[in-house]
Amino acid sequence: MRSRTYAPLFLRLSYAGVSPSPSPSPYDSLSFPYMGWLRRSKAYGFYARNIRRRVFGSSVAVPREVHQEWNPSDDETIDLAVDWRDEMFLHFHRPFRGRRALKSYLQTGRETLEVVRTILDRLGKTPDQLDNVLEFACGYGRNTRFLRTLFDPAKLYVCDVDPIAVESNANRFATQPLNSKPEPTEWVCERNFDFVFVASLFTHLSYETWEGWLKRLARALSPEGHLIITTHGLDWLNGNNGAVHIEGGFCYRRTNETSGRLSCDVYGSSYASTDWVRDRLEEAGLEEALPHLPSALWGQDVWVLKRRP
Ligand SMILES: C[S@@+](CC[C@H](N)C(=O)[O-])C[C@H]1O[C@@H](n2cnc3c(N)ncnc32)[C@H](O)[C@@H]1O
Repeated sequence: MRSRTYAPLFLRLSYAGVSPSPSPSPYDSLSFPYMGWLRRSKAYGFYARNIRRRVFGSSVAVPREVHQEWNPSDDETIDLAVDWRDEMFLHFHRPFRGRRALKSYLQTGRETLEVVRTILDRLGKTPDQLDNVLEFACGYGRNTRFLRTLFDPAKLYVCDVDPIAVESNANRFATQPLNSKPEPTEWVCERNFDFVFVASLFTHLSYETWEGWLKRLARALSPEGHLIITTHGLDWLNGNNGAVHIEGGFCYRRTNETSGRLSCDVYGSSYASTDWVRDRLEEAGLEEALPHLPSALWGQDVWVLKRRP
C-alpha cells in the first residue's frame, strides 16, 4: 500500500492499464499502456531483434534467487535461459523489473505444463504412449522448456512461422524443428502427430486464417490424435476497444506484440464465443474429446479436440 502511495506518477498511471478482464492473466497486472504503444512500433522491433542481444548478451541473466526457486536441487531440470528476442518474455519485461518479468514468464510456462498434465490424465494417456508430439506456434520456448520435462525432446517437434525462434528453440532444448507459413495452405508437413499443442495462436489469428489453420492442424493429427487449442472468449473484449466485429461470435483487433514482424492482416487479437468456436469445429471435422476448459490457461479457454469418426 505504501509503495503504491509514494510510487512515481508514471508508475501509478501504469496501474491504470490493468485490464478488467473477468479472469485476469499475469499479462494484465503488468499492462503499461505507453509501453504497449512503444513496443508495437517497428523501430522497437528492430532494436529488440538486432541490437538488444548485442548489448545485453544473448540470454537474459538469471538471478541466483530465481535459479534457486526453479532448480532448488541444482539439477538444472528447467532450462532457465531466455532469449532476448523472445516476444513472450518482452511482453512481461519492463525497465527495472527484469526479475519480476522472468518469474512471471516462467510461471506461465509452468502453468502450461500443469494443464497438459491434467489433459493427459483426463484422456487416460501417458507421455510415453505418444510417438510424435507437436508444439505449434512454439515461439522461443516459454512452454517448451517445461514440456520437454514431460516428453522426450527427440519426439517433441516445435514449429513457428518465425524461423529464428524455431532455430533458437531447437538448439536450446534439443527439440525437432519445423517451419511454418503465415497461410495454412502454404504449410507443408507430411508427418502426423498424436498430440498437437497450440497455446495462444487462435487468440491472435484473423477471421480469414482461423478456420484454415484449424482444418490444417486437424489434418496433421494421427487417427487417435488430440489437438489442444486456446481461445479468448468475447468477455475478454471489455467493450469494443477498437475491435472489428466481423460476424456473430467473432471479433478481431488489428494489434499484436510483434513490433512489425507479423502483419495485422493475419495476426492480431481475436475473440470468439464458444458457439462460434463449436461451429468451426464442426466444419473442420473435429469434436471435443473433453468438455472445454474455460479460463484454464492464463485466463484463456482450452479446447481438447479429436477428429470426428
Ligand atoms: C502469442 S505467441 C505464443 C507463443 C507460445 N505458444 C507461447 O505460449 O509462449 C504466438 C506465436 O504464434 C506464432 N505464429 C503466428 N502465426 C503463425 C503461423 N501461421 N504458424 C505458426 N506459428 C505462428 C508467432 O510467431 C508467435 O511465436
